[in-house]
Formats: sequence, C-alpha cells, structure tokens
Amino acid sequence: LERDLLIYKGFYFQRKASITGFLENIDDFEIRDDDVFIVTYPKSGTAWCQQILSLIYFEEHRKRTENLETFNRIPFFENCFEDIDFGSRPSPRLFATHLPYYLVPRGLKNKKAKIIYIYRNPKDVMCSYFHFLNTYPIFKAADTIDAFMKQFLEGKVLGNLWFDHIKGWYEHRNNFNIQFMMYEEMKKDLRSSVLKLSKFLGEDLSEETLNAVVRQATFESMKDDPLANYENALYLYFGSKLREGHFLRKGTIGDWKSHMTVEQNERFDKIFRKQMKDFPLQFIWD
Ligand code: PPS
Repeated sequence: LERDLLIYKGFYFQRKASITGFLENIDDFEIRDDDVFIVTYPKSGTAWCQQILSLIYFEEHRKRTENLETFNRIPFFENCFEDIDFGSRPSPRLFATHLPYYLVPRGLKNKKAKIIYIYRNPKDVMCSYFHFLNTYPIFKAADTIDAFMKQFLEGKVLGNLWFDHIKGWYEHRNNFNIQFMMYEEMKKDLRSSVLKLSKFLGEDLSEETLNAVVRQATFESMKDDPLANYENALYLYFGSKLREGHFLRKGTIGDWKSHMTVEQNERFDKIFRKQMKDFPLQFIWD
C-alpha cells in the first residue's frame, strides 16, 4: 500500500501521479463558471463518462479527425499523468477526479461550475477494483477477493471508504451544482443517460450527434477504440506491461455474483445496511 499511495489530509493519493505542490494548492485552484468535473469513486464509470463528455464536446473526437486520447481531453485533476497546465486550457475545461467533497477547490461551491457524480453498486465496484489492481504490476494487490474485501471495507484503497465517498457527496449536494448518475442506468439505457447529461450540461445535441455519442460510448466500441480504452495511456503511465487483462474488463452489472461467496455477500450486506441506513439513492445489483 505505502509503495504506490500517499495519504494527504486523510485521503489516499496515487504517489506517482501526485505533483509536488499541487495537492497543497487544490483548495485555491481557480474555478471557471463553465468548468465541468466528473467525480467518481474509482471503478464506477469514470472513463465511460470521460468518453461521453469528450464525444459531446469535441467534434474532432466524434469524427476521429484528431488523434488525442480521452484523458488528454479530460485530464484527471489530482492524478496528473502529465504535467498539464490547467490554467492555460481553453474553456470549457473538463476534468475527472476521485476527490471527496471536502477536498475539491473552494471555487466549486459557487455552484456555477458543474459536477457529474457517477455511482455504481459497491459490490461490482469492489470486484472491478480487485481486477484493476491485479492488472497493473505497479500495485501491490490483494491475491483474493476475501483479502481485498477486507481492505475495501476498511477504506485502505485510493478513494478511501466507498460509503464515506458517496455519502459525503450526497449529503453536501446542495453546496454544489451536481447531477448524480447511476452506472447501471447508463448501462440499461445509454441514450437516455446521454440526453440527461447533455441537458444538465446545457448542450443541445442534434439527432446525428446524439447517435454518434451513443454509438461510440458503448462498452464494445470503447474497447476497440485506442483513444478511449486506456490501454496506451496506462502503459505509458505505469511504464510496465499489463499482467493480464484490460482496463475495459467486462462492463456489466452483477459480476460480483461470480466472485463473492454466500458468506462474503452476507458480510458485505450487513455492513452495507448499517452504513447506508436512511440513504435515499437506490442501487441496482443485477
Ligand atoms: S478508474 O480507474 O477509477 O478510472 O475506473 P473507472 O473508469 O471509473 O471504471 C472502470 C469500470 O468501468 C467499466 N466501463 C464501462 N462499463 C460499461 N460501458 C462502458 N462503455 C464502460 N467503459 C468503462 C470498465 O469496464 C470497468 O468495469 P469492470 O467491471 O471492471 O469491467
């Protein structure tokens, strides 16, 4: 754990990607009215939403007239894969982040900039996370789901405790201009989800554009799209070959069922019920 993560203000950050001086200044980072932040707990649909927004905002991406990776168009805010000068980027600036509500720039609370919070049922998040960590040699990953479940439920991962992340953002939603989106709803009806997103963003999509976005944001087309599937990007970033597997692994709902035993599931449910008591958002488990 210590090898690849560092803890700052109680939150785990990717050590390799954290640029000195940046974390200390996040609070003062200057927010523009038309900034958009995709906020997620890891493995909840970040890259997917990056792809959707990239397709909505950049015709060059839709038409593939420019060879730029999604995550250069929509960089990670706190995980700087490259030393990007955010201040000189043209508006609207789009960012992705895993930050908890209490660590984002103060300026986001003026409610002008927009936040999209994507959430996914935490059993699938946990299984996706387990595979992700086992795919990249840089991580010191748990060998079994059981070992990882312990780590996940103690919040000893980047993102910290899943329950705290979603509850924190939800409970403070009135401080932000925020739209909550559910991974499973996106999966079940991508077209409606893209429309919902574009409405929130104030982007009027022509029928043709909407069709193009939906077509290019499915799991299958993203998996085949080298600008969207993170394969090159993560190779460059981690500087080592994948053990086995892909960033776009399965993209399904309910994969946890093929990972967790009945006992593990009961243990998980018990903690979920306790942690999420009175939490109003619903989840789709399969
Ligand atoms: S990260 O590392 O936090 O940025 O990961 P993140 O992008 O949030 O989550 C990765 C999971 O999202 C799945 N994914 C998709 N599912 C359905 N449709 C599309 N288009 C899509 N794109 C990405 C990806 O496959 C990971 O989930 P799993 O369950 O591991 O497949």
